[in-house]
Amino acid sequence: MRKLRFSVLGAGRIGQTLGHLLARQGHSPIGLTCRTLRSARQAAAFIGGGAPTTSNVRAAAGADLILIGTPDKTIAPLAADLARSSLTWSGRIVAHTSGALSSAVLEPLRRRGARVASLHPLASIAVPRSGDQRLQGTPFAIEGDPQSVRILRSLVPTIGGVPVAIPARAKALYHLIACLLSNDLVAFLSIGFEAAAGLGLSPKAAARLYLPLVRGTIENVARLGTVRALTGPVSRGDLATLRLHAEALRMLPGDLRKLHRLLALRSVTLALEAGTITRDEATRLVRQFGSMP
Ligand SMILES: NC(=O)c1ccc[n+]([C@@H]2O[C@H](COP(=O)([O-])OP(=O)(O)OC[C@H]3O[C@@H](n4cnc5c(N)ncnc54)[C@H](OP(=O)(O)O)[C@@H]3O)[C@@H](O)[C@H]2O)c1
Repeated sequence: MRKLRFSVLGAGRIGQTLGHLLARQGHSPIGLTCRTLRSARQAAAFIGGGAPTTSNVRAAAGADLILIGTPDKTIAPLAADLARSSLTWSGRIVAHTSGALSSAVLEPLRRRGARVASLHPLASIAVPRSGDQRLQGTPFAIEGDPQSVRILRSLVPTIGGVPVAIPARAKALYHLIACLLSNDLVAFLSIGFEAAAGLGLSPKAAARLYLPLVRGTIENVARLGTVRALTGPVSRGDLATLRLHAEALRMLPGDLRKLHRLLALRSVTLALEAGTITRDEATRLVRQFGSMP
């Protein structure tokens, strides 16, 4: 594909990661912005080029592809600012990286002739990533103007991503599910690690103890699917063990007990579907969870 001149407005974790990967593919970084010049300079060093500035309009000038990597709430005002500028927008691609918002948030730029899109890597990037392999296999949800979608769909595989079509109207749900499976999982793990204080373990030591189990479970789900990946006392209809848990559960905070009951009931449904318990066993398990503290 032809080499692009690109700018990143909001060169934070996502912006720097994408900018770095695009630059490695021979695309030219033009302008890079952050709220502070200091951050923009660091971003330019990470990406390996591009003029650092705090002016989004200046950074966007002269780029064929403008990536907006600012936080969600700043995208609409930024698009309005850019649209008010004297820049020519006709034919340029402007894509933001928000998971929850669609390209509709870039409407003022679309009206000025820009080809707007959203381009969301379904990845959790806690620090900017470098190296060709870093987004290997990451799905990228893309929607927007048909011509920009076509170009972005051919660009994404060159940086290791896998393009996925998510309609604009489904983006909020798509993103909610991502948060449920990623951010909520982090919160859930933190609750579990804290609960290990009852064993005399620090959260760090608990992480060392339990993370191999967590990783193995995720691997099993990836390999076998949720129904066949379920192990543990519910999958075996093991009421005796669950009664032992009922005692230990008293040591946990009430909201965690509620969460455990909710998820255990879901496990009963999975075990029934897997055929590892009978309907009678399922009824007894549900009764047992109902009587738990
Ligand atoms: N991180 C992830 O895992 C991830 C994954 C997929 C999608 N996303 C999406 O990517 C977007 C950015 O997330 P992030 O995690 O990369 O955030 P981030 O690391 O906080 O980066 C945001 C960047 O935007 C800059 N910024 C803020 N307001 C600005 C403005 N008005 N003009 C120019 N620059 C501005 C910040 O500058 P300073 O550095 O000077 O503060 C910072 O460099 C969000 O829409 C998010 O939903 C994130």
